[in-house]
Amino acid sequence: MAYETLIVDINDHIALIRLNRPDALNALNSALMRELADALTAADRNDKVRCIVLTGSEKAFAAGADIKEMADKSFVDVFEADLFTPETEALLRVRKPIIAAVSGYCLGGGCELAMMCDFIIASDTAKFGQPEINLGVVAGIGGTQRLTRFVGKSKAMDMHLTGRFMDAEEAERSGLVSRIVPAKKLMDEAMAAAAKVAEKSTLTAKVVKESVNRSYETTLREGLLFERRMFHALFATEDQKEGMAAFLEKREAQFRDR
Ligand code: CAA
Repeated sequence: MAYETLIVDINDHIALIRLNRPDALNALNSALMRELADALTAADRNDKVRCIVLTGSEKAFAAGADIKEMADKSFVDVFEADLFTPETEALLRVRKPIIAAVSGYCLGGGCELAMMCDFIIASDTAKFGQPEINLGVVAGIGGTQRLTRFVGKSKAMDMHLTGRFMDAEEAERSGLVSRIVPAKKLMDEAMAAAAKVAEKSTLTAKVVKESVNRSYETTLREGLLFERRMFHALFATEDQKEGMAAFLEKREAQFRDR
């Protein structure tokens, strides 16, 4: 399907979704959010896709929700539309791994979008921030909750209250991103990481994703029980037999998602 605000390529089991509103630094307007929800849902349902990479441009992953589109809205407008909720819920329903490849500005809703992905690879030019306070609002798609879990209360408060930007080094040091790579190598590194993920059993990868995400949503005791039961359950799969046999036979595993 052709999109107005996205470029989607599917190759070698990887769906690469590029936000494409260059004139607005990829600001998240309603068309982009709708198309993104559609593209992610389609990639999740496509049997050929084993991993998804979400990226923007060199200058901006996304500079936040579209301020021009929001500026004149009333409380009733955004409340009745439940602004951004259906689209973010669609993203959170995606069961395949999503890697965010971030270069340049990653602000407000852009930072929140990156944090909804499974991990973030940042270029050395990346700048993260939650500057909503400068607009007289608070983050609206998870920034106060997710950033706090990633970087702790003090730094999250600092980011949300001052609206300052964090560079890639600080973001890596504080646990927001998994790795930093030189800007020119960002897409090669992100696609290589996606290729590594795509080599695994997608069935197992979905279980890994659900299990890690549980750590944000439940007590340690419940999370450990969930993990243990998933570990046990995977012994019912062909991929567990294949993975362990391949190790013992000193060969590459051929996973079939069964
Ligand atoms: N919404 C709409 N348009 C945006 C935008 C946004 N969030 N961010 C940038 N743009 C547009 C600018 O208006 C400009 O368009 P025009 O040329 O038509 O005026 C174009 O993108 C380029 O931007 P700048 O000229 O401002 O570029 P710059 O390099 O001087 O500055 C920047 C870059 C620091 C990122 C600056 O654009 C900026 O501060 N953007 C806003 C960041 C922001 O406040 N994000 C939070 C949004 S609210 C939110 O996201 C709520 C939520 O949690 C859901």
